[in-house]
Amino acid sequence: MHLTRITYCSEIIKNIGSEELSDILEVSRRNNEKDSITGVLLFNSNFFLQCLEGSREVVNRLYSRICCDKRHHNVQIVAYSEVSKRQFADWDMAYLPWTETTRKIIAQYSIGAEFNPYQMSAQSAIELLDDLGRILQKGDN
Ligand SMILES: Cc1cc2nc3c(=O)[nH]c(=O)nc-3n(C[C@H](O)[C@H](O)[C@H](O)COP(=O)(O)O)c2cc1C
Repeated sequence: MHLTRITYCSEIIKNIGSEELSDILEVSRRNNEKDSITGVLLFNSNFFLQCLEGSREVVNRLYSRICCDKRHHNVQIVAYSEVSKRQFADWDMAYLPWTETTRKIIAQYSIGAEFNPYQMSAQSAIELLDDLGRILQKGDN
């Protein structure tokens, strides 16, 4: 049972709105608590970037399920590794809304003005999530 972290990005299907997003978060938090999964979901109007942490078996199973979800497509693994500790241990699924603070942090890791996780290296994506994890800890997002 190795502690594993997967980070992936995906593109939203057009017309996904705040209601669908709330549904995703509600189900995620319920399931993840049961399965001891923690993580974070970053969302802008086009893309998701999500990190999932937990046992390898459970993380792999969840990722397969998420890949089949019709609310997004073009799901791509950005990074996958065993980790010694959780970055988002306090969150069944933290959600990072688009605020001035998150926008500024994301801009540091982005090529263009728009958030586009497909254009990020694995290292940038992981460092971005680490930075965002720190602002979640401080509670000033
Ligand atoms: C971007 C995105 C992120 C998701 N993250 C999770 C998650 O962290 N945990 C989870 O259980 N389901 C997540 N889901 C939902 C799953 O795809 C799936 O609908 C859900 O796990 C089914 O759960 P249920 O069988 O309890 O209804 C996510 C879906 C999307 C589109």
